[in-house]
Amino acid sequence: MSNNLLAGKKGIITGALDENSIAWKTALKAKEQGAQFVLTNAPVALRMGGIQELAKECNTEVIPADATSVDDIKNLYTQSKELLGGNFDFILHSIGMSPNVRKGKAYHELNYDWLQKTYDISAVSFHKMMQTADQMNVMNDWGSIVGLSYIAAQRTYPFYNDMADAKALLESIARSYGYRFGKKNKVRVNTISQSPTPTTAGSGIDGFDSFYNFAQKMSPLGNATADQCADYIITMFSDLTKMVTMQNLFHDGGYSFTGISEELIEEMK
Ligand code: NAI
Repeated sequence: MSNNLLAGKKGIITGALDENSIAWKTALKAKEQGAQFVLTNAPVALRMGGIQELAKECNTEVIPADATSVDDIKNLYTQSKELLGGNFDFILHSIGMSPNVRKGKAYHELNYDWLQKTYDISAVSFHKMMQTADQMNVMNDWGSIVGLSYIAAQRTYPFYNDMADAKALLESIARSYGYRFGKKNKVRVNTISQSPTPTTAGSGIDGFDSFYNFAQKMSPLGNATADQCADYIITMFSDLTKMVTMQNLFHDGGYSFTGISEELIEEMK
């Protein structure tokens, strides 16, 4: 159903790998709500997924960019401006990857070169995307920038490994750049802290099924799906949330503020 919440808005959507991706669902909904946008992902990811099909469906193009490369980001913005015919009203940062998680290194045996990669890909790239947008002046006034986080930034989830530290950094960057961008041209910056979601990034975490089921039983509303996350992102890009900035917004069915649920108590008996 369309309410044309994003009519006339232009933007960039990163991170659509396959149809399970939060970014994939966001692209479909953004299209439905009247937005025009460019899709982007790391060159290596473009070879794997069906992002070209998504682009066709959304009547747009894919511009490859490794989000850790400032040159790639500059090229992405230059080409996107041309394609869209103007500056951007929204940017979605939907990017995360930890070589330590991928290669099974526990938190107490981290490879530090890989740790730098985790930070660069999953957090510093958010800064790079914003600083480059800031320096190139490609954000329209009252634009909206969203990154995706997880509650391991606040509480310990041992299996989330170095991604927990990356998410803490991501959320801090949202606050710090949110201040700068708000002052500069009323651009808001927020992170959405999403429930465990069965995607490539999500299910790559050790023990994913167990903590997905645990969160499902803990949350009064149940886990939020990728589709519902996309709905929330759309509202954050719309003019209905103009004064929300520098926040980490929990989108988790109430999980973050529940101490214990009756279902879990029953299981412990
Ligand atoms: P996904 O695996 O579909 O998306 C992750 C994306 O990051 C992929 O498209 C991948 O190609 C991209 N990426 C990796 N390295 C990159 C690079 N160097 N440059 C550009 N793009 C790169 O998984 P999902 O779940 O949709 O992830 C999106 C965001 O949501 C991530 O930040 C993730 O940490 C976050 N998130 C996911 C949760 C989950 O349980 N799935 C829960 C909370 C947050």
